[in-house]
Amino acid sequence: MKEKLKRMAAESAAELVQDGDVVGLGTGSTARHVLMVLQERVKREKLRITGIPTSSDTRILAAKLGLELGTLEEHPELDIAIDGADQLTERLELIKGGGGALFREKVVACCAKRFVVVADESKLCERLSMPVPVEVLPFAWKPVELALRRAGALEVRLRTGSGKAGPVLTDNGNYILDVDFGRIEQPERLEAEIAKIVGVVECGIFCPALVSEVHLGTRDGVRVLRRPAGGGNRKI
Ligand code: A5P
Repeated sequence: MKEKLKRMAAESAAELVQDGDVVGLGTGSTARHVLMVLQERVKREKLRITGIPTSSDTRILAAKLGLELGTLEEHPELDIAIDGADQLTERLELIKGGGGALFREKVVACCAKRFVVVADESKLCERLSMPVPVEVLPFAWKPVELALRRAGALEVRLRTGSGKAGPVLTDNGNYILDVDFGRIEQPERLEAEIAKIVGVVECGIFCPALVSEVHLGTRDGVRVLRRPAGGGNRKI
């Protein structure tokens, strides 16, 4: 059922892509559906798009699907970016980074005229509360951990993975800390506070200023959540 809801959200968001667009390609299982829908549109409608992948994983899948790819050097301004989320609210606050791609995802989202989020209804919550992924320079991870605790973190966990002993390395060669702040009452404030810590590369809180709309796959169809006064145009 969940896969069906993800696919519904992906189909709805992929409809927004137009011929000639430069498209940010997100990471994760829902973004994967978007790539497959785009491939179908390319074949069926002869749609011409250039994809900017947000991770090695997405780049490999996009190449396998035959999607044309470009870089931010060639296309520093994107028409649209479509990506998943780990948790989201009706106010369009997000937590991302479950797949470790949060830095490139945030850069690509910031460069897009329109940033569209795709998710199934299980991601929707009243308040963000899951651990926040924070990408850190390996050299500084321990002092960053201390600073995060001073900023109110209840628990800080260095992310480790399977298939390799020790910490997970991101596509940028950094570590990820999963940081539990409990229930997050003011995500924008927390994002700004984390960003101030020297050694932090980026954190997985995405604020409403960055998000244009959310396409949420529900049992009753796709719900589109929008900010009352636009959005999705914050620049780096
Ligand atoms: C990748 O780093 C994440 O930000 C993903 O976008 C997020 O984890 C959503 O993934 P799923 O669509 O697989 O839930």
